[in-house]
Amino acid sequence: MGWNPGRGQLAALKAGLFALALVPMVQLVWRALAEALGANPVEAVQRSTGWWALFFLLATLAVTPLRRWTGLGWLPGWRRMLGLYAFFYAAAHFTTYAWLDVWFDPEAILKDVVKRPFITVGFAALVIMIPLALTSTRGMQRRLGRRWRSLHSAVYAAGILGVLHFWWLVKRDIREPLAFGAVLAVLLGARLLARRTAKGSPQAAPENK
Ligand code: HEM
Repeated sequence: MGWNPGRGQLAALKAGLFALALVPMVQLVWRALAEALGANPVEAVQRSTGWWALFFLLATLAVTPLRRWTGLGWLPGWRRMLGLYAFFYAAAHFTTYAWLDVWFDPEAILKDVVKRPFITVGFAALVIMIPLALTSTRGMQRRLGRRWRSLHSAVYAAGILGVLHFWWLVKRDIREPLAFGAVLAVLLGARLLARRTAKGSPQAAPENK
C-alpha cells in the first residue's frame, strides 16, 4: 500500500526536506544580520528556536503513526534527520539563553533551573534529548540492541516536557501550546492504541517506537 518512489526520488525528497528544515535557522541569522529581529531580538531568537525544536520533536514522533496510517514504508527513513533537527534547534535555543540571558554563568543557570519551573522542565527536556542525539547513529542502534528502543522511547517524555515548558511560559494566549499539546496527545494515543493492538495479536510484528 502507499506511494513507493524510487531510490533517486527518495534521496531527492530527503535532501529537499533537509534544506527546508534549515530555512528557519537561515532566516533567523539573516534577520539578525539585517538587525530585523524587532524590539527584543534575544526573545525573538529564543522564541523561534524553541518553537522549531518542539515542532521537529513532534514531527519525529509523528513518523511511526503516519507510516502506519498511510502505508508509506519509507517514512521511518526520515525519523533520525527530524530528531537531529529537533536537537539542533533545542541546542541553539539553550545556547541563546545561556549566552545572551545569563552570559554562560553556571550559577545563574542552576538558579534558574531550580527556581523557575518553566526552565526546569525545558532543561529536563534538553537533558533527555542529549543521549538520544548521541545514540542516533545506526552503529549505536546495533550496539545497544533492545536497549536502544527503550532509551529512545524517552523522546515522548521530552515531548511532554517541551509542551509543558511552552504552556508554562505563555501568559495569556495559550492557543499555540494547546495546539502542540493536542497533537502530542493524538500521537501518544496512537502509540498506546498500537501497543494494545499488538499485545492482543500474537503474530503482530514488533513496532518501531
Ligand atoms: C535548558 C533548556 C531550556 C531553556 C533554558 C529554555 C528557555 C526558554 C526561554 C527563556 C524562552 C522564551 C521565553 C519568553 O517568551 O520570554 C523559551 C521559549 C520556548 N522554548 Fe525553551 N528552553 C529550554 C529548552 C527547550 C526545549 C528542549 C524545547 C523544545 C523541545 C523548548 C521549547 C520552547 C518553546 C516552544 C518556546 C516558546 C516559543 C514561542 O514563544 O513561540 N525549550 N525557552
